[in-house]
Amino acid sequence: MRSLYIHIPFCQQKCYYCDFCSFVCSDDTQQKYVDKLIEELKFKGTKEQLKSVFIGGGTPSCLSENLIAKIMTAVSTYFEINETTEITIECNPNSLNEQKLKAYKCAGINRLSLGVQSLNEKILKTIGRIHTCKEFYQIAPLIQKYFSNFNFDIMIGLPNQTNFDVVDTIKKLMQFSPTHISMYSLILEENTKLFNQVQNNEIKLPLNDDVVDQYIIGLNTLKEFGFYRYEISNFCKKGYESKHNLNYWECGEYYGVGVSAHSYLNNERFSNTNNLIDYINCKNFEPFFKEKLTSKELIEERIMLGLRTEKGLNISKLKQNLNYDILKEKGDVIQNLLDNKFVKIEENHLKICEDKFYVSNSIIEKLI
Ligand SMILES: C[S@@+](CC[C@H](N)C(=O)[O-])C[C@H]1O[C@@H](n2cnc3c(N)ncnc32)[C@H](O)[C@@H]1O
Ligand code: SF4
Repeated sequence: MRSLYIHIPFCQQKCYYCDFCSFVCSDDTQQKYVDKLIEELKFKGTKEQLKSVFIGGGTPSCLSENLIAKIMTAVSTYFEINETTEITIECNPNSLNEQKLKAYKCAGINRLSLGVQSLNEKILKTIGRIHTCKEFYQIAPLIQKYFSNFNFDIMIGLPNQTNFDVVDTIKKLMQFSPTHISMYSLILEENTKLFNQVQNNEIKLPLNDDVVDQYIIGLNTLKEFGFYRYEISNFCKKGYESKHNLNYWECGEYYGVGVSAHSYLNNERFSNTNNLIDYINCKNFEPFFKEKLTSKELIEERIMLGLRTEKGLNISKLKQNLNYDILKEKGDVIQNLLDNKFVKIEENHLKICEDKFYVSNSIIEKLI
């Protein structure tokens, strides 16, 4: 089964660190955008049953609940969804309210992801978040009232963030019993205000080693609360792994609709334009960019995504599907990593050892 990603490129304000495709726009533009999105859903719709739908952004909760309901009606008209389909919406604390939560539930959305980032007011201000801790505390009990499956996004490696801040944020979030936590390490993106602030020495970021400490401390705190890591940055209670995430990591196929959205079908990757006006005015949905992945790229992607997960890389599947015997091709490197306890092989899966996850990028580099 395939997944569907729907991109909503609107935010009330641009966070200083964010380079995602999102804009501050009028209601009229939002309305036109949703109309175009529905046209694209009709164009791409196959009536097939979907494994998961992810309404992401940007900030989908910026849209009125009526527009979200319209999108969901189009999804169920042009594809098939049922109670087994995981349907997630990404939200911000300050653009959410009880009426929206009720409407999401009525529209069939069964999972919510809230961008919290930190519960330190000063840090939120420094990174240009529009919400306050108070707004989080107002909305969190309501999320709990309407949803039994929800994620909080948090970040590490933020300016002036300490180990204490990471633990404190996680502990405070746990009062609301989330089923899933995504803990992302800040990536300093070039086209952002934060990048310039760091370049001009106005802001200092924690050193790499300090971010590794924050990650390990965050991981241990999450473990204490019964969360397990199923991918480098993703943690959940058993049984609440996100189907949508897993589909990406297992190199499953997906449709993407909306400005900048990507699709992956029949070993081909397609992407839509990044330009909002071009997207709204487009006459057909010819991909802006299209590439057939070479077998080398397919192998590298499978290795990279597999090793990022707790389950690891399925060695025999890689051999069967892509005719690549990693134990033969990378025998010496793997032996060295096994001897130094960086990786292990269990039940036909090559895995990064738990205490070496923070150096996974360099391990992956050696194996591709
Ligand atoms: C694109 S946002 C969408 C959700 C929502 N707009 C929000 O920010 O709360 C999804 C997540 O991406 C993460 N993110 C965005 N920019 C990032 C960056 N430069 N480095 C690391 N994580 C980032 C944040 O954790 C954010 O919650
Ligand atoms: S982090 Fe989220 S809220 Fe902030 S600008 Fe990016 S998409 Fe918008």
